Amino acid sequence: MSDQNELSRRGALMKLGILLNGAIAALLAIPIIRYLLGPVRGKGYTSWVSLGPLIQYPEGQTRLASFRNPYVRPWDGETADIPCWVRHIAGEGFQVFAVNCAHLGCPVRWFPQSGLFMCPCHGGVYYADGSRASGPPPRGLFEYAHKVEDGHLIIEAGELPTLATQAKLTDSRRSPCAG
Ligand code: FES
Repeated sequence: MSDQNELSRRGALMKLGILLNGAIAALLAIPIIRYLLGPVRGKGYTSWVSLGPLIQYPEGQTRLASFRNPYVRPWDGETADIPCWVRHIAGEGFQVFAVNCAHLGCPVRWFPQSGLFMCPCHGGVYYADGSRASGPPPRGLFEYAHKVEDGHLIIEAGELPTLATQAKLTDSRRSPCAG
């Protein structure tokens, strides 16, 4: 009898162990599946956000702006306020840069006297058009896609710009009819 009890307890514990392992494996699989399905998701979490009227950005100047992440959660607080650098070239010509250095992501600062963006962490330097000037960054600053509508500057915000969005931006500049 006691042998039977021992066997049934062992079997129950075995089933419980398998169940727990299955639950843990399922929990671990969620982020992996989301990562793998990322490219299929298409545009992902982006939407157009206003950076305010054009009058805030004088021609020939680069100014710091900020916007609220459109995919904010209640507990995000001030971390959902995202800064970016806006360069008004002329007319409706703009560039909107992510503040994060293309090396390890430190926030870069604009120095109008020298016309350069500089990174305080490891000395990365970028020209006014965001291209890499010197230091460890492997490439220029990442740029947001943008457009001008009703006298307002609008950017595609949500996810931070990456190499993929950069390629899309370069393509649309090459063929202005696209998108
Ligand atoms: Fe900017 Fe390293 S993070 S140079």
